Amino acid sequence: MLSFVPLDGRHKIWRLATRILAALAVCQLIPYTYAAAEREPYDDRYCTTCHGTDGRGNEGIEAPRLAGMEDWYLRRQLENFRAGIRGYHPMDTAGIAMRPMAKLTDESIADIVAWVGGWDYRPAESTIEGDVQSGELLYGVCATCHGMDAKGNAAMGAPALAGQNDWYLVTQLSNFVVGYRGRHEDDRYGQQMAAMVGTMTDESTIRDVVAYINSLEAR
Ligand code: HEC
Ligand code: HEC
Repeated sequence: MLSFVPLDGRHKIWRLATRILAALAVCQLIPYTYAAAEREPYDDRYCTTCHGTDGRGNEGIEAPRLAGMEDWYLRRQLENFRAGIRGYHPMDTAGIAMRPMAKLTDESIADIVAWVGGWDYRPAESTIEGDVQSGELLYGVCATCHGMDAKGNAAMGAPALAGQNDWYLVTQLSNFVVGYRGRHEDDRYGQQMAAMVGTMTDESTIRDVVAYINSLEAR
C-alpha cells in the first residue's frame, strides 16, 4: 500500500466523521438510518445536506458536485453504493458515509436523477495546483475513455472529469490506486478504471493530471 494517501491520518478520519455526523443530524437522517427496516414514505431529496444546496459539492465533508453529472453515471453510482460494491472498503471513510444514503428504491433513484438533472450546472473552482505539462502527458491514456477534452464518454461508461471538484478527483484517483475503489468483483466499470492508474505513482502525478484536467474547459 502506498503511503501518500491523504485518507490515512486518523485525525482526518475523525474530523470527517464529525462533520458527517453533524450533517446527518441536520437532516434528521439518524433515525432514518437506524430504522430503515420499517420506514415510512420518506423524502429522498436530502442529498443537498452534504452535496451543497445548489449541488456544487462540499469539500468539508468530501461530498462532490452532483449538478451537471451525467444521468447514467449518477444512476450507476447510486446503484453501486446501494449494492455495496462501492463504499465498502473499511478505509474508504467518505464512501462509507455515502453508502447508507443510497438505501433507495428504483423509483427514488429515478426521481433523484430527474431532480438533479434540473439543477443549474456551473463548473467547480480550481483548488489543486500541479505541473500542467507533465499532467498533459499523463492524461494521454485517460483520453481513450474520458475523451480528449475530459467531457466524458457514455459509450465507455467514463464520466466527465472537467468541471468536477478537483479535490474530489484527487481523492478518487488515490482510492483507485490503493484499492479502496474499483476492486469489488461486481464493479465492472470501477475495475476498468482501476486498471488504468499504473502511471499514478505518487501524489504529485495525481496532482499533475488533475491540474491538467483543470486547464480544460468544462462543458
Ligand atoms: C451524509 C452526507 C451525504 C448525503 C446526505 C449524501 N451524500 Fe452522496 N456522497 C457523500 C460523500 C462523502 C461522498 C464521497 C464518497 C466517495 O465518492 O468516495 C458522496 C458521493 C456521492 C456520489 C458519487 C459521485 C461520483 O462522482 O462518483 C454520488 C453520485 C452521490 N454521492 C449522490 C448522492 C445523492 C443522490 C444523495 C441523496 C439521495 C446523496 N449523495 C446524499 C455524502 C453524502
Ligand atoms: C479504460 C477506460 C478508462 C481509462 C483509460 C481511464 N478511466 Fe477513469 N474511469 C473509467 C470509468 C468506466 C469510470 C467510472 C467508474 C465507476 O463507474 O465507478 C472512471 C472513473 C474515473 C474517476 C472517478 C470520477 C468520479 O466522479 O467518481 C476519475 C477521477 C478518473 N476516472 C480519472 C481517470 C484518469 C486521471 C485517467 C488516466 C490516468 C483515467 N481515468 C483513465 C474509465 C477509464
